Amino acid sequence: MIDTPIKIALSKGRIFAETLPLLAHAGIVPVDDPETSRKLVLDTNNEHIKLVIIRASDVPTYVQYGAADLGIAGKDVLMEHGGNDLYEPLDLKIAQCRLMVAGPVNCENDLSYTRTGKRLKIATKYIDSTRRYFAEKGIQVEIIKLYGSMELAPLVGLADLIVDVVDTGNTLKANGLAPLEHITDISSRLVVNKASMKMKHEAVNQLINNLDEAVNNPENRA
Ligand code: ATP
Ligand code: PRP
Repeated sequence: MIDTPIKIALSKGRIFAETLPLLAHAGIVPVDDPETSRKLVLDTNNEHIKLVIIRASDVPTYVQYGAADLGIAGKDVLMEHGGNDLYEPLDLKIAQCRLMVAGPVNCENDLSYTRTGKRLKIATKYIDSTRRYFAEKGIQVEIIKLYGSMELAPLVGLADLIVDVVDTGNTLKANGLAPLEHITDISSRLVVNKASMKMKHEAVNQLINNLDEAVNNPENRA
């Protein structure tokens, strides 16, 4: 018996679109379309389940503080958030891409990491992941925080390199950039608030199991 509805936080656009078939497989169908509705809390065909539509990078925060019971967020976002106070029970295998270092085509020689005397400038929104990656290689870099369109930074001399997610590589290519180093593979994960996992165990567990089944159903693979 559920008293309060289960809230699932997710962002519109790519993650919402790729989550829809998984939710449908779990028997959950939103009543409104977030691309056309201004509502931030969407009803579903199940009165016990609501979808909370927020920015991708805010999902872990809502779930951490229990403002949502569950959330769907990219591993890139979760790595930046730190993943504190969150369970991450399921890889949904959607919104798949790679976190990469990229730079101007043919820059590999100019920007050799072993060259002394120059501290590379890296533009990214992934501050912590970037710092960690270069620190593990023993390379000191200057990180320039951006909120989007990282590909522009090397073109206008703001940075030597960028760290961003890459899928087809088309955005890099269109801007005269090339992938240089693969940091890690990214996909979206289901995250769960720790208190919700305890207090709403039955409903949350059932949802995890249903989504797990949906992920492993070949019909739901892109
Ligand atoms: P915010 O609005 O918080 O800045 P965002 O603009 O990065 O977030 P989206 O573009 O919808 O939000 O991306 C959501 C997630 O999808 C990312 O966190 C990443 O895991 C994944 N992703 C981003 N770009 C791609 C891509 N080109 N192909 C596949 N997956 C991607
Ligand atoms: C993401 C990312 C890259 C692009 C990579 O941007 O920031 O710019 O996708 O994808 P590709 O390798 O297939 O070209 P997105 O399209 O999400 O736009 P955004 O700037 O709104 O995040």
